[in-house]
Amino acid sequence: MKQMIEFKLNGQAVKLETEPDRSLLWVLRGDLALTGTKYGCGSGFCGACTVLVDGVAVRSCLLSVGGMEGKTLTTIEGLAEGDVLHPVQQAFVENDALQCGYCTPGMILSAVSLLAENPRPSDAEIAAGLDDNLCRCGAHKRIVDAVRSIARNDRT
Ligand code: FES
Ligand code: FES
Repeated sequence: MKQMIEFKLNGQAVKLETEPDRSLLWVLRGDLALTGTKYGCGSGFCGACTVLVDGVAVRSCLLSVGGMEGKTLTTIEGLAEGDVLHPVQQAFVENDALQCGYCTPGMILSAVSLLAENPRPSDAEIAAGLDDNLCRCGAHKRIVDAVRSIARNDRT
């Protein structure tokens, strides 16, 4: 049965009338046209669908939209401030930390969450923090370089 679900998404209040057990991933992509949140495995293994819920990186394919009531969500579309990229996005650009880009939104949001919790992670902590985000293009080294550049320069 449908119900009204209210949450904050990328700085805007959202009100949706929908079945609460629907996948958050497909509500974001299908209902709200936020296709930066990617479908990879659908089972919590790849990280392509990562979003921030109350500032913490989570797998949107494993969550229902009903669980978002009253929460604050950020997708990759909500990270930049107008034309100004978030420092983690800028670091990915500067370090050429992507190839096809399919994993990139999830990687960036996981990195934002990691740096919020630990602003100066070691290389081992960066690798461990992003270990559950998979990159089929093998860009992991440049991704770690990008996150390290933030950790060393304290740009967040
Ligand atoms: S699509 Fe959600 S973890 Fe792979
Ligand atoms: S850049 Fe292609 S999957 Fe990571």
